[in-house]
Amino acid sequence: MTTVIVIFLILSIVVLWPLQVWTKIYPRDITMKTPKWKRYWQGTEVNTGNNYGGWLLRVVNSDASTICGAAYYSPILVIASGNCIHPYRYSLEGTSVEPTAYMNDAEDNIFGLIDTVYTPKEFQYLGQFMDVAIIRLKRPIKGKLTEFIRLCSTPITTGMKMVAYAWGFDSINVGSQSAEPRNGSVVVEDPKPCAKKFEVDFKLSSNTFCVTHPKDPKECRYDGGCPLTYGNELCGIVSHGPLCADTSQPGLYTDVNKVKKFIETIERKVQSGELTRSKFVRISINRKAKVPTTKRRKAIQ
Ligand SMILES: *[C@@H]1O[C@H](CO)[C@@H](O)[C@H](O)[C@H]1NC(C)=O
Repeated sequence: MTTVIVIFLILSIVVLWPLQVWTKIYPRDITMKTPKWKRYWQGTEVNTGNNYGGWLLRVVNSDASTICGAAYYSPILVIASGNCIHPYRYSLEGTSVEPTAYMNDAEDNIFGLIDTVYTPKEFQYLGQFMDVAIIRLKRPIKGKLTEFIRLCSTPITTGMKMVAYAWGFDSINVGSQSAEPRNGSVVVEDPKPCAKKFEVDFKLSSNTFCVTHPKDPKECRYDGGCPLTYGNELCGIVSHGPLCADTSQPGLYTDVNKVKKFIETIERKVQSGELTRSKFVRISINRKAKVPTTKRRKAIQ
């Protein structure tokens, strides 16, 4: 009798242990009413091991290829970059948003369908200024591991060490694309020398910051829309810049602190119903923040 109990206990431990040690499991799925604070990512120490947290998402095209990395912000809002989603925004049929962390086969088929993509009015394709996109889902993404990430609360300064995540879909000339994301550590560059490196081609936008890629292209993590975290927060989004093929050039990221206002305004307007479901909306939040056209044109080229 005791042998049976002991075997049962050992089996239970073997079955349950990895999940409980490696990941944070929530009792239920996210609904429209789930408050953000209930599902905030608590950092890698809570989910070390086989995933990077339930907030790390990817946008998958109808042909099953990954087109953007993304971060789960609130029940139906996902953050990516304008540059990565733009080429697809008029053909979102069949495009879905998938979590990178899920528990088992039963949760294998969880994804969110895209309703609308919002980008700031000031954003122009292939430019870095205000390069952020809010993806509005039709309904929340299910799964007991899905969770939200907080927006950055620390100003970006030179020398800050952050964590980058990528699949390699923008660097297939460097190595094969992986189905699983990979992380890596990067350091924020001094903005002045960085701006100088690009000055012949374009003017670095005021809400973009630079990070040094690791020298070895295989260690480089840089795919469109992918997040950059600092502590437990989303601080950067891969914008449009030199890819891993040339690691002597810095990676360019949108500073989340500088687009926070846009993100929060969209959130408020979606909650209040002011923004109804409709496709391809460009929103002007801060009409006063005008960029001279010549400057902007230069930034785009
Ligand atoms: C990458 O993720 C693993 C697992 O979560 C973690 O142990 C490691 O510290 C991370 N690397 C960096 C550079 O943060």
